[in-house]
Amino acid sequence: MRERESLIIGTLAVILQIIYLFPLIVVSKVIIQEFFSNPQVTNAQSIIELYNIITNNPSMLVGTSETVCMLSTIVLTGIAEKDKKVLQWVAGIVDGDGNFHISKKGYVELSVVMEPRDIACLYKLKQMYGGAIKATSHANAVRWRLHHKAGILSVINGLNGLLYNPVRIAQLERVCSLYNVEVISSTPLTYNNGYLSGLFDTDGSVYYNKSSNQAFITISQKERTLLDLLVSVYGGKVYASNKAKTAFKWTISKKVEVLALIDNYFHWYSCVSAKNKKFGLVKQFYYLSSIGALKASPDSELGKSFVQFVERWDATDNPQ
Ligand SMILES: *[C@@H]1O[C@H](CO)[C@@H](O)[C@H](O)[C@H]1NC(C)=O
Repeated sequence: MRERESLIIGTLAVILQIIYLFPLIVVSKVIIQEFFSNPQVTNAQSIIELYNIITNNPSMLVGTSETVCMLSTIVLTGIAEKDKKVLQWVAGIVDGDGNFHISKKGYVELSVVMEPRDIACLYKLKQMYGGAIKATSHANAVRWRLHHKAGILSVINGLNGLLYNPVRIAQLERVCSLYNVEVISSTPLTYNNGYLSGLFDTDGSVYYNKSSNQAFITISQKERTLLDLLVSVYGGKVYASNKAKTAFKWTISKKVEVLALIDNYFHWYSCVSAKNKKFGLVKQFYYLSSIGALKASPDSELGKSFVQFVERWDATDNPQ
């Protein structure tokens, strides 16, 4: 008799727990499914909302063990982190090749212009915010344009506090004041931030010099302020690209530093553009250099392996 009673009570307790947990399970399941079935869509808003619901209404969690609560927090934090990485990447893209334009009538347009081979970046922006992608009039480039207010608001709310390019920050401030959005000052740039991957997608370059056996990772800008900031976080040096000092280049050229940046940064914060393929080839370049393939005659076996390498390297520049 006792046994049956405790069995019934136990079953009831489990059913009650499921009923209490049900809303949480359903909501998180929907969000998690949505997120993973479409990793390029940002769900910052919905995740923050769900997080607020849970933290503001702990009653939702009545009857659950602390473990479940902790686990869902970990899962949600993980998703929010991934989401933050994407927004930081967008910030790098917009800082690099973006432009906020306010028309005389007060309409805001955000545009990003890139080389056709890097169009994957624009597809990602379109998927996140809408807008349209078209070839530029001279057709050497592709442009993503965003007009509608909801999209612009979503961009400025998402990027508020994540930009580092003084020119772009000034533009964002004008748009924010037009839409009555309070400007947040930028948080200090840290190593583990998706920003560099976006800035690299737009203004970055990877190349090698066969005669000096060197590979280079660089980012070019008209002003050096942003590049000096990169030095303080990622090392490297800033050089003037010309005598008139109207352009500057952040450069990483020491082999250990190039490899460290690829393995410790770009491995975790992947670029979306075609340039991403070059990072793997840089390692191949160092390997071929170490076995003397760069200096070997093109007819020799070693020399041929370098010729093949050059073909693969150049192929990454072709649009697919
Ligand atoms: C490549 O390296 C060589 C040797 O250090 C140098 O003379 C040459 O200017 C470099 N080429 C370029 C394009 O930087």
